[in-house]
Amino acid sequence: MLFLSLLLTLTLSANAATLADPSSEEEALRYLKEFGYLQKPLESDSEDFSPEEVQEAVRVFQVASQLPETGVLDTDTLEKMKQPRCGVEDPFNQKTHRYLLLGRWRKKNLTYRIHNYTPDMKADEVKAAIQSAFKYWSDITPLKFREITYGRADIRISFHRLGVGCSRPFDGPGKVLAHADIPELGTVHFDEDEQWTEGTYRGVNLRIIAAHELGHALGLGHSRYSNALMAPQYAGYKPNFRLHDDDVKGIQVLYGKNDRYEEDKKEHITTAAPAIFTTPSSPMPDPCKDDLDAMILGPNGKTFAFKGNYVWTITDYGISPLTRIQTLWKGLPGNLDAAVHSKRTKRTYFFKGDKLWRYTDFKLNSGYPKILTRVPPNISAALYWEGNQKIFLFKGDEYWQWDELGWSILQAKKISSLFTGIPGKLDAALTWKNGKIYFFKGDKYWRLNKQLSLDRGYPLSKAERWMQCYHFD
Ligand SMILES: *[C@@H]1O[C@H](CO)[C@@H](O)[C@H](O)[C@H]1NC(C)=O
Repeated sequence: MLFLSLLLTLTLSANAATLADPSSEEEALRYLKEFGYLQKPLESDSEDFSPEEVQEAVRVFQVASQLPETGVLDTDTLEKMKQPRCGVEDPFNQKTHRYLLLGRWRKKNLTYRIHNYTPDMKADEVKAAIQSAFKYWSDITPLKFREITYGRADIRISFHRLGVGCSRPFDGPGKVLAHADIPELGTVHFDEDEQWTEGTYRGVNLRIIAAHELGHALGLGHSRYSNALMAPQYAGYKPNFRLHDDDVKGIQVLYGKNDRYEEDKKEHITTAAPAIFTTPSSPMPDPCKDDLDAMILGPNGKTFAFKGNYVWTITDYGISPLTRIQTLWKGLPGNLDAAVHSKRTKRTYFFKGDKLWRYTDFKLNSGYPKILTRVPPNISAALYWEGNQKIFLFKGDEYWQWDELGWSILQAKKISSLFTGIPGKLDAALTWKNGKIYFFKGDKYWRLNKQLSLDRGYPLSKAERWMQCYHFD
């Protein structure tokens, strides 16, 4: 009885915590109104919505966002509303239609003009990004697009800030990224308060967002598939970005197919993005493809992944933009061998060659880097195990147990003698928030429970589960 009543209180107070925050509820209502989920008939004289109307709007938003359909403004739903998105209203009839069509151009040859340029990128790069955005659509339809530099174009592209140059003001950095009018109006606007980029996980990808907005300008509404280009939320930069089947079908319903494209579909799909973007100038790793150097559950409980000169964090909502390692851990080199964060001492250790770096939070401890003397150089992975509060170092098919605070004999043992089912030559390892141990090698990862036995169903794909890389096929 005592146990039951305790449980009840806990649940109630947890609910209260999400709902009693009036600012987030108000913001959610504003969001639902702004994006067309909550609408009053034009003749209505009341501005208020009944709880039932709100609940229904939340439900529709949840279906469109592929969240559990509860009608309750829970944390996941509020979080989804905070994601960057497109400023066009979402359709209501997503339950019945695969894609929503907003209208269409009566001609197939359209002109476009770029009226101003963002200072975030070179003018040539902006031109190239916009050109590739059009190409996604012209590849699969009979539509043809031609750029003009004077006069009135069918599709007019510009960048503007909060409250300038448009009847629909933007909202500053984040949230709404761009908006466009339906056919045959032809306006496409980008929020200048965003950081527009190409070929990087930093900022917002101009090519992908432009392709999305052009989708609207050509008559497509939002897709209910979160992997589609026409999904209402921006899913982040993808190096090998392609249209979703839903995008292709939608635009072809409006304009028909491209015969040339139908003949050699495969070739066109793979050449959809111009080559200059597939080889960015700086050696930026690809979290979807590359092996890891190291991974830690680091300071502030954040999960950090390391590759080359870059580090990024991983959350339930995806990966952060890639950051140079040096900007977080000053004095640390790139291309690390291994890293581990100790829950016991709150220290973070980095291994490379025969050297060891030790940091507290993001500050290098004095006297470091030091030379590794008691273990061989080129350690390949390291983890902290809560079971005995020791640090485990891995190289080849061997491991060492190291006590940070005591004097222990470091003795090489076979990995398979303690961690059954785990291969040698690992890339990275860590103990995660759930107390489980993860080992990474190539695209595979293995999970061990607290008793060090391998969980069922492993190995799984690191790209899919950790880096949240999606494939359109
Ligand atoms: C460690 O790695 C470096 C760089 O790859 C290599 O030159 C060196 O021979 C390696 N040392 C050992 C002992 O494996």
